[in-house]
Amino acid sequence: MNNNAIGVFDSGLGGLSAVKQMLKAMPNENIIYFGDTSRVPYGNRSRATIRKYAMQDANFLLENNVKMIVAACGTVSSVAPDLENTLKVPYTGVVLPTCFTALKESKNGKVGVIGTSATINSHSYKQRIELKNPSVRVFEQDCPLFVPLVENGFIDRNDEVVKLIVKKYMAPLKEAGVDTVILGCTHYPILKDAIQDFMGEDVLLIDSGKETALYTKKVLSENGLSNTSEKTGTAKFFVSDTPDNFEKIASLFLEKDMHNKVSQINIEEY
Ligand code: DGL
Repeated sequence: MNNNAIGVFDSGLGGLSAVKQMLKAMPNENIIYFGDTSRVPYGNRSRATIRKYAMQDANFLLENNVKMIVAACGTVSSVAPDLENTLKVPYTGVVLPTCFTALKESKNGKVGVIGTSATINSHSYKQRIELKNPSVRVFEQDCPLFVPLVENGFIDRNDEVVKLIVKKYMAPLKEAGVDTVILGCTHYPILKDAIQDFMGEDVLLIDSGKETALYTKKVLSENGLSNTSEKTGTAKFFVSDTPDNFEKIASLFLEKDMHNKVSQINIEEY
């Protein structure tokens, strides 16, 4: 039993797709979330910069005595997989749990992966899937406009701008005949409805946030770190820029009033 918080970070709002599922799967756990909103997006930055940012994000969480760190960010998970080796607490990114589910679920052996440019250029998902099952064909597509869409509140499936950009990125995967698509950036589950509308109901969308939340639960349990308290846990939210925009979009996505619930920190100090 350990009632310290789980530390979760992302470049911005995306990691909330993991938090949303953690609140469902582990309602008694405490959570500390950091969204690096002053430096989002990570996905078009260099490997060295992404690694430096990820280290600072993890340091902030460690200073808050978290018992586990979750990089709820496909970009960090893809570009800095060795972050794990530098931390003294259990760690997970999103790539491993998400690939595991895709391999289990795809029937026709054609899997699409969408992510930021850094993620797609790293081929992190493709390599892991092909290593496990070389007969699976992986079709990769970067979607650099999805993160700015989400961060600017364009998340409605009926918005014409959202529909147009979804079509632009998803059409090649639809043509390839994939039956499963990995939402390999944690921002993308926030656009899930719009992506599903375009791909059709027969295509399974794998939510990297959800798979990571379920995997986190498993890791905590295996390490004897689960919070066995009966009480509902608390979730604290921090960002590196002014909280207003984050609070507005987080309220919509988490279906909770996040007004005045988010604090700003200076991430450069970590
Ligand atoms: N949510 C991050 C990811 O999963 C977004 C990265 C970005 O900031 O570009 O990749």
